[in-house]
Amino acid sequence: MALLVSTWSNGVQSVPQDYVMPPERRAGEFIKVCNEIPVINLQGDRSEVVQQIINACKEFGLFQVINHGVSDKMMADMRVLYEEFFNLPVEEKLGVYSEKFGKGCTLYTSGLNYAKEDVHYWKDTLKHGCHPLEEHAPSWPDKPARYRDEVGRYAAEVRKMGFNILDLIAEGLGLSKGYFNEVSQDQSMAVNHYPPCPDPSLAMGIGGHTDPNLITFLQQDQYGLQIQKDGVWMGIDPIPNAFVVNLGYQLQIISNGKLKSAEHRGVLNSIAARTSIVTFMGPNSNLPIVVEPAKELVSSSSPQIFKSFKYNEFIANYLDFIRKPIPRNGTALDSYRV
Ligand code: OGA
Ligand code: NI
Repeated sequence: MALLVSTWSNGVQSVPQDYVMPPERRAGEFIKVCNEIPVINLQGDRSEVVQQIINACKEFGLFQVINHGVSDKMMADMRVLYEEFFNLPVEEKLGVYSEKFGKGCTLYTSGLNYAKEDVHYWKDTLKHGCHPLEEHAPSWPDKPARYRDEVGRYAAEVRKMGFNILDLIAEGLGLSKGYFNEVSQDQSMAVNHYPPCPDPSLAMGIGGHTDPNLITFLQQDQYGLQIQKDGVWMGIDPIPNAFVVNLGYQLQIISNGKLKSAEHRGVLNSIAARTSIVTFMGPNSNLPIVVEPAKELVSSSSPQIFKSFKYNEFIANYLDFIRKPIPRNGTALDSYRV
């Protein structure tokens, strides 16, 4: 438990040596907030919304949504809940604590395996499955006492929004309504907590990566999320009650490369703790669900660029890839290209 950054970082004056990133993994130069990343009003004219989403998915693999159906109150309640959770005395969180990322509900620190890292990320994460609720909720924290009730209701609302956004994407690609249903049944959450850091130029919150799933919905209370586009890191404006939507590898693959996934990371600040509440939707990673480019999007003028594969195997390969030492060659997607 002593490992959790939130248990020892309060008031530290300098970054401990095992959190100082080598220069090439530090935040370096970046564009503070990129105003070109679209903020899309989901209550707008449907065909315009579809077009805005498709353009954003082609250009950035990321956009923000407002008027998305999840109430402001529910989103604010989640921020308060997780502030309380991360401020609980450590003894109250022992039930979910784990020394490394694993299956089930876990509160862990840094990356996937603290013990094997040469340098650690300045982050604590609570992660767990969300769907079906009855299966997962019993493993969730029981403090604060309202956790299971509030998070259960939030997960259901985010799920509705998720299917809605996936249908808008399907429509924009010329695919049928519900096209993504089978590959979006699994839902999980990661709540990342980044305490203030005495020198954000030396340490890192979460390193650059692309989510392996289909699509991700993130709410945040502070600046810190960045996306890499054409080799340049750019900041995402933290808009209260908006969701940042980013595409994972599976949407890039199923769209046969028509849409792109977003490489992103989380940087730190020295003033305020930052918490991101992240929902992932995708295929069930325990099942051999077949993923491949949509037949409708493959033609002689647009040949198939990704192979067909089983999702459980993809996830195993992805985890192997991101456990490799940095710098790594290529990306986790490379072996799936035709
Ligand atoms: C993630 C992620 C970014 C953030 O959990 O996959 O990219 O801002 N988080 O916490
Ligand atoms: Ni991510």
